[in-house]
Amino acid sequence: MANLAIVGTQWGDEGKGKIVDLLCEHFDVVARYQGGHNAGHTVKIGERQFVMHLIPSGILHPGKFCVIGNGVVIDPEYLLNEMAQLESLGISFNGRLLISNRAHLILPYHRAVEKAAEEALGDRKIGTTFRGIGPCYEDKAARVGIRVCDLFYPEVLHEKVFANVKTKNTLLAALYHAEPLDAASIYDSLQAVADKLQPYVADTAMWLDQAMKAGKRLLFEGAQAIHLDLDHGTYPFVTSSSAGSGGALTGTGVAPTRLHGVIGVAKAYATRVGGGPFPTEVKDAAGEELRRRGYEYGASTGRPRRCGWFDVPAVRYARAILGADALAITKIDVLDVFKEIPVCVGYRYKNSDLKEMPAETYVLAEAQPVYKNFPGWQKSTVGITALESMPQAAQDYLKVLSEMTEAEIAMVSTGPERNQTIVKEGSSILKLIKKK
Ligand code: IMP
Repeated sequence: MANLAIVGTQWGDEGKGKIVDLLCEHFDVVARYQGGHNAGHTVKIGERQFVMHLIPSGILHPGKFCVIGNGVVIDPEYLLNEMAQLESLGISFNGRLLISNRAHLILPYHRAVEKAAEEALGDRKIGTTFRGIGPCYEDKAARVGIRVCDLFYPEVLHEKVFANVKTKNTLLAALYHAEPLDAASIYDSLQAVADKLQPYVADTAMWLDQAMKAGKRLLFEGAQAIHLDLDHGTYPFVTSSSAGSGGALTGTGVAPTRLHGVIGVAKAYATRVGGGPFPTEVKDAAGEELRRRGYEYGASTGRPRRCGWFDVPAVRYARAILGADALAITKIDVLDVFKEIPVCVGYRYKNSDLKEMPAETYVLAEAQPVYKNFPGWQKSTVGITALESMPQAAQDYLKVLSEMTEAEIAMVSTGPERNQTIVKEGSSILKLIKKK
Protein backbone atom coordinates (compact mmCIF):
# COMPACT_ATOMS: atom_id res chain seq x y z
CA MET A 1 0.00 0.00 0.00
CA ALA A 2 2.29 2.74 -1.23
CA ASN A 3 2.11 6.43 -0.34
CA LEU A 4 3.79 8.74 -2.80
CA ALA A 5 4.93 12.37 -3.07
CA ILE A 6 4.96 14.41 -6.27
CA VAL A 7 7.55 17.15 -5.98
CA GLY A 8 9.08 19.81 -8.24
CA THR A 9 12.76 19.46 -9.19
CA GLN A 10 13.35 22.94 -10.63
CA TRP A 11 11.88 26.33 -9.67
CA GLY A 12 8.19 25.43 -9.71
CA ASP A 13 5.64 25.30 -12.51
CA GLU A 14 6.93 21.93 -13.73
CA GLY A 15 3.40 20.65 -14.31
CA LYS A 16 2.98 18.77 -11.03
CA GLY A 17 -0.79 19.35 -11.18
CA LYS A 18 -1.13 17.21 -14.29
CA ILE A 19 0.92 14.35 -12.81
CA VAL A 20 -1.09 14.43 -9.58
CA ASP A 21 -4.26 14.48 -11.62
CA LEU A 22 -3.11 11.52 -13.68
CA LEU A 23 -2.03 9.35 -10.76
CA CYS A 24 -4.97 10.25 -8.56
CA GLU A 25 -6.93 7.14 -9.53
CA HIS A 26 -4.41 4.98 -7.63
CA PHE A 27 -4.83 6.90 -4.36
CA ASP A 28 -7.61 7.66 -1.90
CA VAL A 29 -6.37 10.88 -0.31
CA VAL A 30 -4.48 13.83 -1.82
CA ALA A 31 -2.69 16.09 0.68
CA ARG A 32 -1.10 19.51 0.28
CA TYR A 33 1.68 20.04 2.81
CA GLN A 34 3.32 23.45 2.33
CA GLY A 35 3.02 26.83 0.68
CA GLY A 36 -0.27 28.59 0.19
CA HIS A 37 -2.09 30.31 -2.64
CA ASN A 38 1.26 31.33 -4.13
CA ALA A 39 1.04 27.98 -5.93
CA GLY A 40 -0.97 27.53 -9.09
CA HIS A 41 -1.77 24.14 -10.52
CA THR A 42 -3.32 24.21 -13.95
CA VAL A 43 -5.23 21.08 -14.87
CA LYS A 44 -6.96 20.67 -18.23
CA ILE A 45 -9.73 18.14 -18.59
CA GLY A 46 -11.40 18.15 -21.98
CA GLU A 47 -12.34 21.72 -22.75
CA ARG A 48 -12.30 22.75 -19.11
CA GLN A 49 -9.25 24.33 -17.51
CA PHE A 50 -8.91 24.56 -13.74
CA VAL A 51 -6.28 26.60 -11.90
CA MET A 52 -6.13 25.49 -8.29
CA HIS A 53 -4.13 27.59 -5.87
CA LEU A 54 -4.79 26.14 -2.46
CA ILE A 55 -7.08 23.15 -2.70
CA PRO A 56 -5.38 19.89 -3.74
CA SER A 57 -6.15 19.05 -7.36
CA GLY A 58 -7.49 15.67 -6.20
CA ILE A 59 -10.77 17.47 -5.50
CA LEU A 60 -11.54 17.26 -9.22
CA HIS A 61 -11.84 13.49 -8.86
CA PRO A 62 -15.14 12.38 -7.34
CA GLY A 63 -14.66 10.10 -4.37
CA LYS A 64 -11.16 11.30 -3.46
CA PHE A 65 -10.49 12.97 -0.13
CA CYS A 66 -8.35 16.09 0.09
CA VAL A 67 -6.35 17.37 3.02
CA ILE A 68 -4.79 20.79 3.55
CA GLY A 69 -2.05 19.92 6.02
CA ASN A 70 -0.59 21.80 8.96
CA GLY A 71 2.39 22.98 6.88
CA VAL A 72 0.17 24.99 4.53
CA VAL A 73 -0.51 28.68 5.18
CA ILE A 74 -4.11 29.64 4.53
CA ASP A 75 -5.65 32.94 3.58
CA PRO A 76 -9.15 32.12 4.85
CA GLU A 77 -11.02 34.50 2.57
CA TYR A 78 -9.08 33.30 -0.41
CA LEU A 79 -9.81 29.67 0.48
CA LEU A 80 -13.54 30.31 0.73
CA ASN A 81 -13.47 32.09 -2.65
CA GLU A 82 -11.66 29.19 -4.30
CA MET A 83 -14.17 26.76 -2.81
CA ALA A 84 -17.07 28.86 -4.06
CA GLN A 85 -15.60 29.01 -7.56
CA LEU A 86 -15.09 25.26 -7.69
CA GLU A 87 -18.59 24.65 -6.32
CA SER A 88 -19.99 26.83 -9.09
CA LEU A 89 -18.30 24.43 -11.54
CA GLY A 90 -20.10 21.51 -9.94
CA ILE A 91 -17.30 20.28 -7.63
CA SER A 92 -18.62 19.01 -4.31
CA PHE A 93 -16.68 19.37 -1.04
CA ASN A 94 -19.16 17.47 1.02
CA GLY A 95 -17.14 15.27 3.37
CA ARG A 96 -14.18 15.41 0.97
CA LEU A 97 -12.06 18.30 2.24
CA LEU A 98 -10.30 18.55 5.56
CA ILE A 99 -8.24 21.50 6.78
CA SER A 100 -5.66 21.07 9.52
CA ASN A 101 -6.50 22.83 12.76
CA ARG A 102 -2.75 23.47 13.10
CA ALA A 103 -2.32 25.30 9.78
CA HIS A 104 -1.38 28.98 10.09
CA LEU A 105 -3.54 31.80 8.79
CA ILE A 106 -2.39 34.50 6.39
CA LEU A 107 -3.85 37.79 7.53
CA PRO A 108 -3.94 41.26 5.92
CA TYR A 109 -0.93 42.43 7.94
CA HIS A 110 1.21 39.72 6.34
CA ARG A 111 0.50 41.13 2.91
CA ALA A 112 1.10 44.69 4.11
CA VAL A 113 4.47 43.81 5.66
CA GLU A 114 5.51 41.83 2.58
CA LYS A 115 4.65 44.66 0.21
CA ALA A 116 6.57 47.20 2.29
CA ALA A 117 9.57 44.87 2.77
CA GLU A 118 9.81 43.96 -0.92
CA GLU A 119 9.63 47.61 -1.96
CA ALA A 120 12.35 48.47 0.55
CA LEU A 121 14.68 45.82 -0.92
CA GLY A 122 14.78 47.61 -4.29
CA ASP A 123 17.06 45.71 -6.70
CA ARG A 124 17.56 42.91 -4.18
CA LYS A 125 13.85 42.10 -3.97
CA ILE A 126 12.83 38.42 -3.99
CA GLY A 127 10.03 38.97 -6.49
CA THR A 128 7.43 37.25 -4.31
CA THR A 129 3.84 36.59 -5.25
CA PHE A 130 2.67 39.20 -2.68
CA ARG A 131 0.33 36.71 -1.06
CA GLY A 132 1.73 37.21 2.45
CA ILE A 133 3.37 33.78 2.45
CA GLY A 134 6.81 34.73 3.83
CA PRO A 135 5.59 36.97 6.68
CA CYS A 136 3.06 34.30 7.72
CA TYR A 137 5.81 31.68 8.01
CA GLU A 138 7.94 34.28 9.83
CA ASP A 139 5.21 34.62 12.46
CA LYS A 140 4.96 30.85 12.70
CA ALA A 141 8.69 30.59 13.43
CA ALA A 142 8.50 33.57 15.78
CA ARG A 143 5.73 31.76 17.66
CA VAL A 144 3.18 34.54 17.26
CA GLY A 145 1.20 33.01 14.37
CA ILE A 146 -2.55 32.56 14.44
CA ARG A 147 -3.70 29.06 13.61
CA VAL A 148 -6.95 27.67 12.23
CA CYS A 149 -7.87 26.26 15.66
CA ASP A 150 -7.71 29.79 17.15
CA LEU A 151 -10.67 30.84 14.98
CA PHE A 152 -13.00 29.00 17.33
CA TYR A 153 -11.86 30.65 20.56
CA PRO A 154 -13.02 34.28 20.21
CA GLU A 155 -11.16 35.56 23.26
CA VAL A 156 -7.88 33.97 22.26
CA LEU A 157 -8.36 35.16 18.71
CA HIS A 158 -9.13 38.70 19.84
CA GLU A 159 -6.06 38.87 22.03
CA LYS A 160 -3.76 37.49 19.34
CA VAL A 161 -5.11 39.67 16.53
CA PHE A 162 -4.86 42.85 18.57
CA ALA A 163 -1.36 42.05 19.85
CA ASN A 164 -0.11 41.19 16.35
CA VAL A 165 -1.65 44.22 14.68
CA LYS A 166 -0.04 46.45 17.30
CA THR A 167 3.40 44.98 16.58
CA LYS A 168 2.93 45.07 12.82
CA ASN A 169 1.71 48.67 12.88
CA THR A 170 4.80 49.69 14.85
CA LEU A 171 6.98 47.89 12.33
CA LEU A 172 5.14 49.29 9.31
CA ALA A 173 5.41 52.86 10.61
CA ALA A 174 9.00 52.71 11.86
CA LEU A 175 10.61 50.81 9.00
CA TYR A 176 8.46 51.47 6.00
CA HIS A 177 6.38 54.61 6.77
CA ALA A 178 3.35 52.56 5.76
CA GLU A 179 -0.30 53.01 6.81
CA PRO A 180 -1.49 51.22 9.97
CA LEU A 181 -4.03 48.38 9.88
CA ASP A 182 -7.24 48.17 11.84
CA ALA A 183 -7.29 45.25 14.30
CA ALA A 184 -11.04 45.36 14.86
CA SER A 185 -11.90 44.89 11.21
CA ILE A 186 -9.43 42.00 10.88
CA TYR A 187 -10.93 40.34 13.94
CA ASP A 188 -14.49 40.84 12.63
CA SER A 189 -13.67 39.36 9.25
CA LEU A 190 -12.10 36.32 10.92
CA GLN A 191 -15.20 35.76 12.98
CA ALA A 192 -17.21 35.86 9.78
CA VAL A 193 -15.10 33.15 8.10
CA ALA A 194 -14.84 30.90 11.19
CA ASP A 195 -18.35 29.46 10.90
CA LYS A 196 -17.95 28.77 7.20
CA LEU A 197 -14.66 26.91 7.69
CA GLN A 198 -15.62 24.97 10.81
CA PRO A 199 -17.20 21.95 9.05
CA TYR A 200 -13.88 21.27 7.30
CA VAL A 201 -11.49 21.69 10.22
CA ALA A 202 -9.94 18.61 11.86
CA ASP A 203 -6.82 17.20 13.41
CA THR A 204 -5.72 16.04 9.98
CA ALA A 205 -2.59 14.23 11.24
CA MET A 206 -4.74 11.91 13.34
CA TRP A 207 -7.27 11.59 10.55
CA LEU A 208 -4.50 10.59 8.11
CA ASP A 209 -3.21 8.04 10.60
CA GLN A 210 -6.64 6.45 10.81
CA ALA A 211 -7.04 6.59 7.04
CA MET A 212 -3.74 4.74 6.57
CA LYS A 213 -4.73 2.18 9.19
CA ALA A 214 -7.89 1.60 7.18
CA GLY A 215 -5.76 0.90 4.12
CA LYS A 216 -6.16 4.24 2.34
CA ARG A 217 -3.33 5.36 0.08
CA LEU A 218 -1.93 8.90 0.25
CA LEU A 219 -0.63 11.12 -2.49
CA PHE A 220 1.31 14.17 -1.35
CA GLU A 221 0.99 17.12 -3.72
CA GLY A 222 4.04 19.38 -3.55
CA ALA A 223 3.86 23.07 -4.37
CA GLN A 224 6.78 25.16 -5.72
CA ALA A 225 9.96 23.05 -5.94
CA ILE A 226 13.25 22.09 -4.34
CA HIS A 227 15.15 25.10 -5.71
CA LEU A 228 12.57 27.35 -4.01
CA ASP A 229 12.84 25.34 -0.78
CA LEU A 230 13.80 27.36 2.29
CA ASP A 231 16.75 25.07 3.13
CA HIS A 232 17.81 23.59 -0.18
CA GLY A 233 16.86 26.29 -2.66
CA THR A 234 18.71 29.28 -4.04
CA TYR A 235 18.49 31.17 -0.74
CA PRO A 236 17.40 33.94 -0.22
CA PHE A 237 15.51 33.75 -3.53
CA VAL A 238 13.22 31.04 -2.24
CA THR A 239 9.78 30.62 -0.81
CA SER A 240 9.47 30.27 2.96
CA SER A 241 8.44 26.64 3.26
CA SER A 242 9.87 23.12 2.89
CA ALA A 243 8.93 22.34 -0.68
CA GLY A 244 10.89 19.07 -0.77
CA SER A 245 9.73 15.58 0.13
CA GLY A 246 10.74 16.14 3.78
CA GLY A 247 8.10 18.86 3.93
CA ALA A 248 5.47 16.28 2.97
CA LEU A 249 6.03 14.68 6.37
CA THR A 250 6.39 17.66 8.70
CA GLY A 251 3.63 19.43 6.78
CA THR A 252 1.07 16.67 7.39
CA GLY A 253 2.22 14.82 10.48
CA VAL A 254 2.77 11.61 8.52
CA ALA A 255 5.84 9.69 9.68
CA PRO A 256 8.87 9.14 7.38
CA THR A 257 8.32 5.38 7.46
CA ARG A 258 5.05 5.93 5.65
CA LEU A 259 6.35 7.68 2.56
CA HIS A 260 7.30 4.99 0.09
CA GLY A 261 8.23 6.81 -3.08
CA VAL A 262 8.82 10.18 -4.70
CA ILE A 263 8.29 11.29 -8.27
CA GLY A 264 10.28 14.39 -9.19
CA VAL A 265 8.66 16.48 -11.89
CA ALA A 266 10.94 18.32 -14.34
CA LYS A 267 10.15 20.33 -17.42
CA ALA A 268 12.10 19.28 -20.51
CA TYR A 269 13.61 22.78 -20.26
CA ALA A 270 13.57 25.18 -17.30
CA THR A 271 11.65 28.22 -16.07
CA ARG A 272 11.72 30.50 -13.09
CA VAL A 273 9.41 33.30 -11.88
CA GLY A 274 10.67 36.10 -9.66
CA GLY A 275 14.25 37.03 -8.80
CA GLY A 276 17.31 34.90 -8.15
CA PRO A 277 20.01 33.08 -10.12
CA PHE A 278 18.98 31.03 -13.12
CA PRO A 279 22.16 29.99 -14.94
CA THR A 280 20.51 28.57 -18.06
CA GLU A 281 18.20 31.53 -18.63
CA VAL A 282 17.98 32.41 -22.33
CA LYS A 283 17.20 36.02 -23.01
CA ASP A 284 17.23 35.88 -26.82
CA ALA A 285 14.69 34.68 -29.39
CA ALA A 286 15.01 31.06 -28.23
CA GLY A 287 13.89 32.08 -24.74
CA GLU A 288 10.96 33.95 -26.24
CA GLU A 289 10.06 30.87 -28.30
CA LEU A 290 10.11 28.66 -25.18
CA ARG A 291 7.83 31.15 -23.42
CA ARG A 292 5.44 31.40 -26.35
CA ARG A 293 5.24 27.67 -27.05
CA GLY A 294 5.11 26.69 -23.39
CA TYR A 295 2.74 29.53 -22.50
CA GLU A 296 5.08 30.41 -19.67
CA TYR A 297 3.18 32.94 -17.60
CA GLY A 298 2.75 32.60 -13.81
CA ALA A 299 -0.48 30.79 -12.89
CA SER A 300 -0.82 32.93 -9.74
CA THR A 301 0.45 36.32 -10.84
CA GLY A 302 0.38 36.21 -14.66
CA ARG A 303 4.04 37.35 -14.72
CA PRO A 304 6.05 36.15 -17.75
CA ARG A 305 8.28 33.29 -16.61
CA ARG A 306 11.99 33.43 -17.27
CA CYS A 307 12.84 30.57 -19.64
CA GLY A 308 15.99 28.55 -20.28
CA TRP A 309 17.51 25.17 -21.03
CA PHE A 310 17.49 22.02 -18.93
CA ASP A 311 19.97 22.31 -16.07
CA VAL A 312 21.36 18.87 -15.19
CA PRO A 313 23.16 19.83 -11.92
CA ALA A 314 19.92 21.43 -10.68
CA VAL A 315 17.81 18.36 -11.35
CA ARG A 316 20.49 15.93 -10.20
CA TYR A 317 20.66 17.84 -6.91
CA ALA A 318 16.87 17.65 -6.69
CA ARG A 319 16.94 13.89 -7.33
CA ALA A 320 19.31 13.42 -4.43
CA ILE A 321 17.58 15.70 -1.92
CA LEU A 322 14.08 14.55 -2.79
CA GLY A 323 14.93 10.87 -3.07
CA ALA A 324 13.22 11.04 -6.44
CA ASP A 325 14.43 7.96 -8.22
CA ALA A 326 11.78 8.47 -10.85
CA LEU A 327 11.21 11.58 -12.92
CA ALA A 328 8.21 12.78 -14.86
CA ILE A 329 9.42 14.96 -17.73
CA THR A 330 6.82 17.46 -18.85
CA LYS A 331 6.26 19.69 -21.88
CA ILE A 332 8.66 17.85 -24.16
CA ASP A 333 6.51 19.00 -27.11
CA VAL A 334 7.56 22.60 -26.43
CA LEU A 335 11.01 21.62 -27.77
CA ASP A 336 9.59 20.23 -31.05
CA VAL A 337 10.74 23.16 -33.19
CA PHE A 338 14.34 23.54 -32.09
CA LYS A 339 17.14 22.47 -34.41
CA GLU A 340 19.57 22.06 -31.57
CA ILE A 341 18.85 21.69 -27.86
CA PRO A 342 21.53 22.78 -25.38
CA VAL A 343 21.66 20.97 -22.03
CA CYS A 344 23.64 22.43 -19.14
CA VAL A 345 26.01 19.76 -17.80
CA GLY A 346 27.97 21.86 -15.30
CA TYR A 347 29.03 25.40 -14.51
CA ARG A 348 32.18 27.42 -14.93
CA TYR A 349 33.05 29.92 -12.22
CA LYS A 350 36.24 32.03 -12.32
CA ASN A 351 38.40 29.46 -14.15
CA SER A 352 37.14 26.48 -12.24
CA ASP A 353 34.53 23.84 -12.98
CA LEU A 354 31.54 23.42 -10.70
CA LYS A 355 29.92 20.03 -11.05
CA GLU A 356 27.17 20.61 -8.48
CA MET A 357 25.01 23.59 -7.57
CA PRO A 358 26.92 25.78 -5.15
CA ALA A 359 25.34 26.85 -1.85
CA GLU A 360 26.51 30.42 -2.47
CA THR A 361 23.73 31.94 -4.51
CA TYR A 362 26.03 34.83 -5.53
CA VAL A 363 28.45 32.28 -7.01
CA LEU A 364 25.62 30.62 -8.92
CA ALA A 365 24.53 34.05 -10.14
CA GLU A 366 27.92 34.53 -11.80
CA ALA A 367 28.47 30.94 -12.89
CA GLN A 368 28.42 30.29 -16.62
CA PRO A 369 26.57 27.20 -17.81
CA VAL A 370 28.60 24.60 -19.70
CA TYR A 371 26.41 23.30 -22.50
CA LYS A 372 26.35 20.14 -24.55
CA ASN A 373 24.22 20.48 -27.66
CA PHE A 374 21.86 17.73 -28.75
CA PRO A 375 20.10 17.51 -32.10
CA GLY A 376 16.45 18.56 -32.09
CA TRP A 377 13.79 16.39 -33.77
CA GLN A 378 11.77 19.13 -35.47
CA LYS A 379 8.65 16.97 -35.61
CA SER A 380 5.51 17.15 -33.53
CA THR A 381 5.45 14.99 -30.42
CA VAL A 382 2.10 16.37 -29.28
CA GLY A 383 -0.11 13.67 -27.84
CA ILE A 384 2.32 10.77 -28.36
CA THR A 385 1.62 8.04 -25.81
CA ALA A 386 4.44 5.52 -26.41
CA LEU A 387 8.16 6.10 -26.11
CA GLU A 388 8.87 4.07 -29.26
CA SER A 389 6.63 6.42 -31.26
CA MET A 390 8.75 9.42 -30.33
CA PRO A 391 11.23 10.70 -32.94
CA GLN A 392 14.62 9.06 -32.35
CA ALA A 393 16.26 12.37 -31.38
CA ALA A 394 13.58 12.93 -28.73
CA GLN A 395 14.15 9.44 -27.34
CA ASP A 396 17.90 10.16 -27.26
CA TYR A 397 17.30 13.48 -25.51
CA LEU A 398 15.25 11.76 -22.80
CA LYS A 399 17.90 9.07 -22.41
CA VAL A 400 20.57 11.73 -21.90
CA LEU A 401 18.46 13.49 -19.26
CA SER A 402 17.94 10.20 -17.47
CA GLU A 403 21.63 9.25 -17.53
CA MET A 404 22.89 12.65 -16.48
CA THR A 405 20.41 13.15 -13.65
CA GLU A 406 20.86 9.53 -12.56
CA ALA A 407 17.10 9.01 -12.44
CA GLU A 408 14.69 6.75 -14.25
CA ILE A 409 12.18 8.57 -16.47
CA ALA A 410 8.84 7.01 -15.60
CA MET A 411 6.53 9.44 -17.39
CA VAL A 412 6.74 11.96 -20.21
CA SER A 413 4.05 14.54 -20.82
CA THR A 414 3.37 15.40 -24.46
CA GLY A 415 0.53 17.89 -24.02
CA PRO A 416 -1.79 19.37 -21.40
CA GLU A 417 -4.51 16.70 -21.57
CA ARG A 418 -4.55 13.72 -19.22
CA ASN A 419 -4.20 11.25 -22.08
CA GLN A 420 -1.27 13.10 -23.70
CA THR A 421 1.23 11.21 -21.60
CA ILE A 422 3.78 8.43 -22.02
CA VAL A 423 3.79 6.11 -19.05
CA LYS A 424 6.76 3.76 -18.96
CA GLU A 425 5.24 0.41 -18.16
CA GLY A 426 7.35 -1.63 -15.83
CA SER A 427 9.06 1.34 -14.21
CA SER A 428 9.81 0.70 -10.57
CA ILE A 429 7.70 3.62 -9.38
CA LEU A 430 4.63 2.41 -11.27
CA LYS A 431 5.07 -1.04 -9.83
CA LEU A 432 5.18 0.56 -6.41
CA ILE A 433 2.05 2.63 -7.08
CA LYS A 434 0.10 -0.38 -8.31
CA LYS A 435 1.22 -2.62 -5.44
CA LYS A 436 -1.80 -3.65 -3.38
P1 IMP B 1 6.58 33.71 -2.24
O1 IMP B 1 6.35 32.24 -2.20
O2 IMP B 1 5.37 34.50 -2.68
O3 IMP B 1 7.19 34.23 -0.96
O4 IMP B 1 7.69 34.01 -3.37
C1 IMP B 1 9.04 33.61 -3.23
C2 IMP B 1 9.61 33.16 -4.58
O5 IMP B 1 8.98 31.92 -4.95
C3 IMP B 1 9.35 34.11 -5.73
O6 IMP B 1 10.43 34.05 -6.62
C4 IMP B 1 8.12 33.53 -6.40
O7 IMP B 1 8.02 33.89 -7.76
C5 IMP B 1 8.39 32.05 -6.24
N1 IMP B 1 7.18 31.23 -6.24
C6 IMP B 1 6.28 31.09 -5.26
N2 IMP B 1 5.31 30.23 -5.61
C7 IMP B 1 5.62 29.79 -6.84
C8 IMP B 1 5.01 28.84 -7.73
O8 IMP B 1 4.00 28.20 -7.45
N3 IMP B 1 5.65 28.67 -8.92
C9 IMP B 1 6.81 29.31 -9.24
N4 IMP B 1 7.40 30.20 -8.45
C10 IMP B 1 6.81 30.43 -7.25
